[in-house]
Amino acid sequence: MKFFVDTAEIDAIAELNDLGMVDGVTTNPSLIMKSGRDIKEVTKEICRMIDGPVSAETIALDAEGMIAEGRELAKIGENIAIKVPLTWDGLKACKVLTGERYMVNVTLCFSANQALLAAKAGATFISPFIGRLDDVNIDGMQLIQDIRTIYDNYGFRTEILAASIRTVNHITEAARIGADVVTAPPAVIKALASHPLTDKGLDTFLKDWAKTGQTIL
Ligand code: E4P
Repeated sequence: MKFFVDTAEIDAIAELNDLGMVDGVTTNPSLIMKSGRDIKEVTKEICRMIDGPVSAETIALDAEGMIAEGRELAKIGENIAIKVPLTWDGLKACKVLTGERYMVNVTLCFSANQALLAAKAGATFISPFIGRLDDVNIDGMQLIQDIRTIYDNYGFRTEILAASIRTVNHITEAARIGADVVTAPPAVIKALASHPLTDKGLDTFLKDWAKTGQTIL
C-alpha cells in the first residue's frame, strides 16, 4: 500500500520522506490555509522534494473553471495530480484533464455510486473520505470495501486513495481491505510505530541492562 501524506507542512513531509515513507502528498484548500503559504510556492517545494504524485485542488465550481485551474496547477510540477470535487462538473473536468494525460484525483467521495462514476470518467485516484463519514455515523470503512469490490468486479484501474484518515486503525483496515493508497496526517503515520508493549518492553530491557553494569560503546 502506498503512503501519501495529507499536509502542506514542508518540514513534516521532509521528515517522513527521509525515512522513505512518502509515496505522494495530498493537499486541499484547508491544508494550504493552515500552512499560511502561497499555493504555488509551497506546492512547487513539495513537488521538488517528492517523486510521487502531489495533489493540488481546484476551487472553481464549473467544469471550465476547474479545467483552466487544473492546467495552471499542472504547470507547478510534472508530478501534480489535479484534484477536483466529485460533482457532475468535477466529473466533466476529470474526463477532459485525464484525456490530456494529467493525473486526476477526484475528491470528496462519500458513496460507491460516486466512485463508480469517477472510475468511468477515467480518474487516476478516487478519494473516499472515511473519517468524515464516521463523523456522521456512517461506516467509512464499508465504503472502501464497497469500492474495492466494484472496481475489482469490472477491472477499473482507478486507484482507491483512502482519505480523511483519523486513526491508525483506519490505516490497518484500509490495508486489510486493499485500498491502493492511504493519505494520512503526519502524526497518524508516525503513530503507526507506537505500541505500549514496545515501550514497556524497552523499559524492562533498559532496567535489566543497567544491572549488568556493561556498556556497548
Ligand atoms: C484528502 O485528500 C483530504 O485532504 C483529507 O484526507 C481530508 O481529511 P479531513 O477529513 O481530516 O479534513
